[in-house]
Amino acid sequence: MKRSAVDIILRKAQPEDIELLNYWDQQEHNIFADPNDKWDWEIELGRNPDWRMQLMAELNGRPIGFIQIIDPYKEESHYWGEVEKNFRAIDIWIGEAKDIGKGYGTVMMQKAIDICFSNKTVEAILIDPLTINTRAIRFYQRFGFEFVEYRKFGDDECSVYRLERSKWESIKAFLI
Ligand SMILES: CC(C)(COP(=O)(O)OP(=O)(O)OC[C@H]1O[C@@H](n2cnc3c(N)ncnc32)[C@H](O)[C@@H]1OP(=O)(O)O)[C@@H](O)C(=O)NCCC(=O)NCCS
Repeated sequence: MKRSAVDIILRKAQPEDIELLNYWDQQEHNIFADPNDKWDWEIELGRNPDWRMQLMAELNGRPIGFIQIIDPYKEESHYWGEVEKNFRAIDIWIGEAKDIGKGYGTVMMQKAIDICFSNKTVEAILIDPLTINTRAIRFYQRFGFEFVEYRKFGDDECSVYRLERSKWESIKAFLI
């Protein structure tokens, strides 16, 4: 499928999405990618902190995936520890296995990166896939994310990658 033909929009996640998000959390591919996080949708979708966007991706009106964008400097739990101002961090997943590998994640990620860099003060984006999630790492590398360090977050052995604004601007045209 041509990516430009894929009609995916990102919209704000709502309390009405809780059931679906809980269902997606139980899917094997998402447990593999994120075995230890508790997303607490019932609480979190009722809050709107200024350091976070929680977005549902819809394909022709059908929810297919989720994206979270945070400002890691302002994020309350300081998950990222010492981090510079003017960064963003992204989490992304496709809800159901049948929707994986069809190019949807690529469109979602492009849109999320554009949202981040539409704020002119944002210099770079961070991601922290599990080191064993080599397919996701390959996915991120296609957008220009570059390896920073191995890092343990709680029980998770992660690989931190970072995408510079300048790198995205040079790579973007080749992706679309
Ligand atoms: C990572 C993910 C968002 C990519 O979205 P997608 O729509 O499947 O990806 P696309 O079809 O646009 O691109 C295909 C690429 O995605 C990656 N990918 C495919 N299946 C994957 C899977 N089950 N898990 C992780 N990455 C996968 C691969 O890099 C693939 O390229 P390849 O075919 O050359 O191996 C999606 O696969 C997913 O939600 N995976 C499970 C959760 C996850 O790993 N999230 C990231 C956590 S850091």
